[in-house]
Amino acid sequence: MQDATEMKAIIASEPGGPEKLQVITRPVPTPADDQILIKVKAAGVNRPDCIQRAGNYPPPPGASDILGLEVAGEIVKVGANVTDWKVGDSAAALVSGGGYAEYCLAHAGSALEIPKGWSFTEAASMPENIFTVWHNVFQRGKLHAEETLLVHGGSSGIGLTAIQLGKAFGAKVAVTAGSDEKCQACLDAGADLAINYKTQDFVTEIKNWTNRKGVNVILDMVGGDYISKNYVVAAEEGRIVQIAFLNGGVVEADFRRLMMKRLIHTGSTLRARSDAVKADIAKELRMEVWQLLRCGLVKPQIYKCFPFEEAVKAHELMESSSHIGKIMLEL
Ligand SMILES: NC(=O)c1ccc[n+]([C@@H]2O[C@H](COP(=O)([O-])OP(=O)(O)OC[C@H]3O[C@@H](n4cnc5c(N)ncnc54)[C@H](OP(=O)(O)O)[C@@H]3O)[C@@H](O)[C@H]2O)c1
Repeated sequence: MQDATEMKAIIASEPGGPEKLQVITRPVPTPADDQILIKVKAAGVNRPDCIQRAGNYPPPPGASDILGLEVAGEIVKVGANVTDWKVGDSAAALVSGGGYAEYCLAHAGSALEIPKGWSFTEAASMPENIFTVWHNVFQRGKLHAEETLLVHGGSSGIGLTAIQLGKAFGAKVAVTAGSDEKCQACLDAGADLAINYKTQDFVTEIKNWTNRKGVNVILDMVGGDYISKNYVVAAEEGRIVQIAFLNGGVVEADFRRLMMKRLIHTGSTLRARSDAVKADIAKELRMEVWQLLRCGLVKPQIYKCFPFEEAVKAHELMESSSHIGKIMLEL
């Protein structure tokens, strides 16, 4: 059979709301020496896709303008230097763009084996969350067994992954979330404490939960007034890892606790990191985490799947923030 030369893909025609998403036709890309070409069966929808669509998160230099940061499917071509993968293999991959398309290029080092029994949709729900959580909670935040982890946005795709990984590595995990239903989902995923921030004060709840000692690691995507509050609820020598600022990043904060408690406040964005850094994270994931997926200790958390052509509905759902876990596109 002849190789396809054209493919359907989704871009934002101009910055704006979900209605700006447009299905277009593009040439099927050709893998460079260290890349693989995946025939996409499913792609994850992530909050950064919405931020990119709105015009506030441009693709890093060299990345595709096609939306989408994670895919799973069948490898149909491999570059000259790729030795770990062959045509016909199934894989899930973290990509720096290009996921909302029939074919997607991935760096071979950012591709991961699909755990036995997982569907392509389940596999595609993992890369963005698991790379982000591993790097920020474990590599930067240095979470250890017996420590406490506080996850803001506990019912997000990122949050539910952080709960499961935190528990799997022996930590006690607390979360904040915006409804009782979301809190229950976090408890079902393994959280020890879920705080509905709309009806409870997380500072008081965390002080009570930790016997006033505070938490060892905080994963924060909210920012805004949480920055000062995080300094209050962090334990001495605590680590606060910032992965987004959904409530704003330009704020007044009282930094004195940072000094008095010897806190570390750090953060990172995954997308712009080099292929080499992502390959190093993937290597650790294969060694430390993949067995947890294989044995079912870490599970996919899929809320809703949409056909590829209904990406507008997928983005509308994500921006309603009524979802719990992952939103997926299927091809
Ligand atoms: N730095 C990185 O490398 C990196 C990588 C991937 C993702 N991220 C970030 O991590 C966050 C989670 O990503 P995701 O794809 O898992 O997103 P998601 O599923 O859409 O989750 C975001 C959640 O945050 C909560 N939230 C709190 N304040 C909010 C606000 N002002 N606006 C909107 N939501 C708010 C919402 O739940 P409540 O109802 O509980 O408020 C919402 O469900 C995003 O901010 C994303 O940009 C960062």
